[in-house]
Formats: sequence, C-alpha cells, structure tokens
Amino acid sequence: MAAPFTVLVMAAGQGTRMRSDTPKVLHRVAGKSLVEWVVDAAREAGAGRVVAIVRPGDGVAEGLPDGVEVAEQVEGEGTGSAVLAARGAVLGEAGLDGDGGPVVVLSGDHPLITADQLRGLMEEHARRGAFATLLTTDRLDPAGYGRVVRDSDGSVERIFETKYTEGLSENELAVREVNLGTYVFDRNALFSALDGVGLDKGERYLTNVLPIIKRDGGTIAAHLTDDAHAGIGVNDRAGLMAAEEAAQRRIVEAHARAGVTFLHPGTIRVEAGVTIGRDTVIGPGTVLEGATTVGERCELGPHTTARDATIGDGATVIHSFVLQATVGADTKVGPFAYLRPGTTIGEGVKVGTFVEIKNSDIGAGSKVPHLSYLGDADVGEGSNLGASTITANYDGRKKHRTKLGKSVKTGIHTSLVAPLNVGDRAYTGAGSTITGDVPDGALGIAREEQKNIEGYADRVEEDSQK
Ligand code: UD1
Ligand code: MG
Repeated sequence: MAAPFTVLVMAAGQGTRMRSDTPKVLHRVAGKSLVEWVVDAAREAGAGRVVAIVRPGDGVAEGLPDGVEVAEQVEGEGTGSAVLAARGAVLGEAGLDGDGGPVVVLSGDHPLITADQLRGLMEEHARRGAFATLLTTDRLDPAGYGRVVRDSDGSVERIFETKYTEGLSENELAVREVNLGTYVFDRNALFSALDGVGLDKGERYLTNVLPIIKRDGGTIAAHLTDDAHAGIGVNDRAGLMAAEEAAQRRIVEAHARAGVTFLHPGTIRVEAGVTIGRDTVIGPGTVLEGATTVGERCELGPHTTARDATIGDGATVIHSFVLQATVGADTKVGPFAYLRPGTTIGEGVKVGTFVEIKNSDIGAGSKVPHLSYLGDADVGEGSNLGASTITANYDGRKKHRTKLGKSVKTGIHTSLVAPLNVGDRAYTGAGSTITGDVPDGALGIAREEQKNIEGYADRVEEDSQK
C-alpha cells in the first residue's frame, strides 16, 4: 500500500437502545468489545494512526485498545459531526496536511468488518483514483440503510437515507445496494466538503459529503462486498446477538478449516482470542474464553468451560471448569472437576470426579481421582491421593501451603492441615487428620483407635421391648 492511512472510528454516544450503563461500542462480541473488533481489523489492514471519536465523559475512551488516539465530539449530531470532531487530529492544528495519506472512516458499531474488506476498499479507491470510496453490499435487507445511487459509469452519485421513509418513491425504496458505513477519503476533499454539509433532521450526515466531492470534480467509487456481515450494525441487544452469532460462525469455521472438529457447533462458544491445535475434538456445550490455548489431539467437553487456560497436547477435559489454570499434555480431567486460578497440572495426571484444585502444582503422573479439595498445595510426581483428600489451607486468617513429596499415597479421608510437609514415598492412614510433618517413607496416622462394644445389637433390642 502506498501512503500510510489514518483510520477514524466513529464511536460516540451511549447508544440508548442498548438500555445499559455501558456505552454501546464497549459491549462485547465473542469476548472483544465492538470497537476493539473494528480497531483490530483496521490494524490488520495496515492502519497507521487510529483515532476514535467519542463524546466527552461517555466512558468510551477508557475502554479503547492501547495506542488508539481520542478525538472528542463536543458539538453537533450525526456521523458528519463525528468526523468533523477529528479534523484537528487528522490535519493538525495549522490545518496542514501531514503525510497526505487517505483517511478511512469506520463505524464503531459494525464489529464484523474485515481487514480483507478494508484492503479491497483501499485497492478500489486507488485503482479508480477516487476522492471517496465506500463499501457496499446488496446481500442485506436494505431497510433503514443508506441506499447507493450509481451513475451510468458505475461511480456513485449520492446516498439517500431510509431511516425515515416519507417522501421516498417506490423506485428509490427498491434500491438494494446499501452503504455499510465504511469509507476511504482523500483527506483534504473530505474536510473541505464537510464544511459545506448542512443539517438534515438536526444531524450532519457524513454521506452528504459525496455530492459535494462529486460537484468539485472528484470521483466517488464503491466497493461491493458479498460478505454482508460487515453490515451488522449493533444498535440494541438483538443486534448484539446477531453479531455474536455471526462472529461465532466465523470463528468456529476458521478453527474447523485449521483441523479442529466441533461435534455440535451450534452449542459451542469460542471467543476471538482462543487458539486450538489440530485434531482436537470439541464436544457439545463447550465454552472457550479469553486467552485460552488448547493443544493438538485434545478432547474437550461435553460441557467444558475454559477461561484463560492452557491445555496441553492430548489432554482430555470432560464436563469441567479450567479457569486461569494449566493442564499438562496427556492429562485427564473430569468429569466434574473445577480447576481454579494459579493451578498447574503436570503431564499424564488424572484429576477425577468432584475434585477442586486452587493455586496448586500437581506433579507429572500423579492422581487425584475422587472428591478432593487441594488449595495452595504442591504435589510431587507420581503421587496418588485417596478419595476425599482435603487440604485445610486456611486457618481463618491466613492461607498456608501443603507440600507433598514424590510418590506419596494418602489414604481416603485424609485431612492435611497446613502448613505441612509430607516427605517422598510417605503414606497417610485412611481417615487421618494430619497436623504435623510426615518424614520420607513414613506412615502418618492420626485417628482414634477402633473399639468394639460386644453384644450391642442385643442390648438395643432388649431396651426396645421394655
Ligand atoms: C449510517 C449511514 C448509512 C449506512 C449505515 C450503515 C449516515 C448518515 N448514514 O447510518 O448510510 O447505511 O450507517 O450502518 O452516516 N456516531 C458518532 N457520533 C454521532 C452519530 C453517530 O460517533 O453523532 C457513530 C455511532 O456511534 C456509530 C456510527 O457513528 O458507531 C454510525 O452512526 P449511526 O447513527 O448508527 O448511523 P446509521 O443510522 O446506522
Ligand atoms: Mg448504525
């Protein structure tokens, strides 16, 4: 691409139809805010500067991705007023044209615009030597969109809005090509034309720069796209759902093409930042969020939720939660395990049914098969914890660590009262409450000795006959 281009993202306002305390463009689709999607697409397409247009105090500036500049739309309504608010940021204080590159204008509420579409738009703009080029599609229900009127030579003559339909002819309403709110402009032509745009129903429409640019001799081109997802504008929660569905389809399909099997795609949710290795199979009801990384040949789900998790090659995680935790290669987790933040499970481990592990390290080859809670614990390699082994890590004021060595075997119902060290190859007796260290190779046993009361049943029967 020739000159570096500046991107303006129109993002001002609360978007009252969202009925929310969160500004519209900060609502999330597949784990990323609407405006983040737009900024990411712009950067992927090679944007130099990215400037977001916000209203003073609307909270949008605080939620922008790093490195995005802010221009405040202090006055005026409408997309034309939004772009005017960035005049200083684009042209500089003195009104001088800095690098002379084009200006791309994007709508912050159209999250599914792609870098490919932006590249196509820029190429068309350059090829036609245009002063303005817009992205359009004829693959949408056109109701409410700005419609595109073309000249006989295929260039764009004007756009008319259809948000309000009174006064529009049937012929006009039959136009199917719509403006997707994505443009590239010659920067000087844009701002000088904007000065000439008047108010329409109280708003300054960006689209009304087009007849002015044309009148002054500039060509207006349009780049028609078949991918209408860029047309999904979020104005309310129903629009947010439509964007989420389309984003899911796009994300899951990209993973599928890269070698991942989804057994029931409609029930799966994968956020934008997730990576998945090939030959992994994702079962129904599985949710992968945040910066989750899944290795190759894994089996996840049915009904597994992973957030900011790292799951090694060949691991199996069935019907479990993995939150900010690491699961080693070839480890088996679940069903019904809950792995909480700060947990690292080594390779070839088994974490079984109704097991909760928090802020702990479990060494390679160890087993925690049933009904256990491990908090703030370090377990060496090759250990086997009996059913219902529980760490008492909290004394009511502070958390303490429990350290188990290698090849430790705890009996069922062992309580480990931290702080505590259990040495390598040590054992604990079933039902023990272990409060002191157990040396290497020793058996720690701490429970009442059994006593048997002979003839007890006969006495109960005699008593009941009295
Ligand atoms: C706009 C286009 C329409 C196009 C449609 C595509 C105009 C006049 N019309 O209409 O041709 O078909 O997008 O979805 O541009 N914004 C501001 N400040 C404002 C007003 C809006 O920053 O004062 C931002 C909004 O946050 C939003 C974007 O600009 O992200 C678009 O505004 P919106 O009011 O949704 O325009 P549409 O009516 O959708
Ligand atoms: Mg809109």
